[in-house]
Amino acid sequence: MPSLTVNDRPVDFQLDPQTPLLWALRDAANLTGTKYGCGVGDCGACMVLVDGQALRSCLISLAEAEGRSVTTIEGLSADRSHPVQQAFVAEQAIQCGFCTPGMVIAAAALLARNADPSPEDIKAAVPNLCRCGVYPRLVRAIQRAGRVARRVETISAAPAPGITPEDAARAVPAMKGP
Ligand code: FES
Ligand code: FES
Repeated sequence: MPSLTVNDRPVDFQLDPQTPLLWALRDAANLTGTKYGCGVGDCGACMVLVDGQALRSCLISLAEAEGRSVTTIEGLSADRSHPVQQAFVAEQAIQCGFCTPGMVIAAAALLARNADPSPEDIKAAVPNLCRCGVYPRLVRAIQRAGRVARRVETISAAPAPGITPEDAARAVPAMKGP
């Protein structure tokens, strides 16, 4: 059975080794932050870090991920405090949010190797598709995240630490149950 590290935990997947990593993460590990968009490598919604590299999990089989370290959006930071997460919120680089996990992962991988990227660097390293068109704000958010990573700026409006998804949903009237 393919075994790999997911968000710093060893996992043995009881699945066919040819199963795409995307479906192992979403369906077996319940890590649904990684999104299915196109399934053919075009959109980037399924990006995860594999040994620190942003890769499309729809194109990687479990066999190919064997022995490697995978980080999903759930594992990027324990309290949503990664500079990219803070900057995406601060710059409102999120509309429907479907593309956001993949974009955050791609941006985190970029900033790990270049914390002062130009707009061209960002376009090259974050080719993810967004049907809502957040691209101008995306560039601003990633450059701001770079400043946070370089410690030349701090963002105070981070999400409240410790809030559970259930509590967050209760705080949004439109998401209240009947
Ligand atoms: S779902 Fe993987 S690139 Fe679109
Ligand atoms: S924010 Fe909606 S797809 Fe990007």
